Amino acid sequence: MAQLAVNVDHVATLRQARGVTYPEPVAAAIAAETAGADGIVVHLRGDRRHINERDVRLLRKIVQTKLILEMAASNEMLGIALDIKPDIVTLVPETKEEISTEGGLDLINHKNHIQETVSTLKNAGIDVCIFIDPDLDQIKIAHKIDADMIEIHTGAFCDATTIAQKQKEFSKIVDAAKIGTKLNLEVNAGHGICYNSIKAFKGLSEIKEFSIGHSIVARSILTGMEQAVRDMKKLVSAL
Ligand code: PXP
Repeated sequence: MAQLAVNVDHVATLRQARGVTYPEPVAAAIAAETAGADGIVVHLRGDRRHINERDVRLLRKIVQTKLILEMAASNEMLGIALDIKPDIVTLVPETKEEISTEGGLDLINHKNHIQETVSTLKNAGIDVCIFIDPDLDQIKIAHKIDADMIEIHTGAFCDATTIAQKQKEFSKIVDAAKIGTKLNLEVNAGHGICYNSIKAFKGLSEIKEFSIGHSIVARSILTGMEQAVRDMKKLVSAL
């Protein structure tokens, strides 16, 4: 059965919109776990636009399932990860201009640097996942540089507006999930997944975990966090 990792970044987005102390992402994480989340995800960005270091430190103390830290492969973030020791680090690309992560890591052009980062994290006992486009050449490099897992970027599929485009993007995800599994990488997926698009993944058992944030936090405003997570968990469990 596929698992659900809940990203609570956008609870912090709402807090930062007013520069106040609420809503509390740690409280959201506790509610998400109570409702059955299999992991809690946060992205500590260089510009600290939502999650900050204090959030990650508190989450490290209270998360009962597993704490997944998304971060760029920068020296600053590496230092923080080695100090806080999340269970898993997901390496992502990051630019200041983007609204959210726009694509997977380009391992073809940044192989050596990412390989060094993977090795440093793994030596510290942290499992490493690479956020990656559904591109077979990129996935083969993720395997070569000894990543433990990949998270396939589902954004292009979720954002596609025509059936033909959706089918084309989904078939790339299917191929990527199969090759990743064949290479003994744990295969996860995420970005842009909502309560409708999650249903498309039915039967694609190669995907072990879905990382979902925005749609869950958006629903939680109307239903409460526990209900929003329960609703998504039910859909993920039915895949
Ligand atoms: N996975 C990664 C690597 C991401 O960067 C994000 C966005 O922070 C997500 C998953 C979650 O995406 P969404 O908020 O669209 O569900």
